[in-house]
Amino acid sequence: MANVEQGKASLLEGIVPESVIARTEKRWLIAMVAMLAFLMAIVVTSGITHAIRAPTNVETIDPTTLHISGEFIESNLGSALEPDGSITVRGIADQYAFVPECMRVPAGTPVKFRLTSVDVIHGFLLPFTNVNTMVVPGFVSELRTRFDRPGVYRMPCNEFCGPGHQGMWTRVVAVPREQFPSLTPTGRAICAQQ
Ligand code: CUA
Repeated sequence: MANVEQGKASLLEGIVPESVIARTEKRWLIAMVAMLAFLMAIVVTSGITHAIRAPTNVETIDPTTLHISGEFIESNLGSALEPDGSITVRGIADQYAFVPECMRVPAGTPVKFRLTSVDVIHGFLLPFTNVNTMVVPGFVSELRTRFDRPGVYRMPCNEFCGPGHQGMWTRVVAVPREQFPSLTPTGRAICAQQ
């Protein structure tokens, strides 16, 4: 009897009273809410001031008429030689393929990619190069690069775009510079050996 009354009055050594625990938890709660509010403020502020637009080349295009007229009709896709000797590659991303399936370009030459999507956001990334962009419907993503030596760059879609995402691949093949002019437009868009 005496022991029970003593226990109520003072806790055993090392046991923290409930009131102290509650006070500490409240402090942590306030600290966490403050951190969350701070981070949300950063997200919202940077969203309003910087990012309310596609993060790449801001050039709009109507995704519903790509196949009917304009730069991205099927016959105009793939690698094209410009008068200044550089290459422009035009491509379309759709669920779940890139068109063309292969993009042959010459090594050691400036290459400009112009890409757009007909449906949802896809990602275009060539490993070990500076090529990495989202492909957004309604916008043209443009980026420039150069492939120093011949090689095959396998290109998985780099943005989750639906249940077929993991099967969405294309290849960019950098061929020796002197070999490129002998390729026909069709040959530039087929990766099988010819
Ligand atoms: Cu297209 Cu993922």
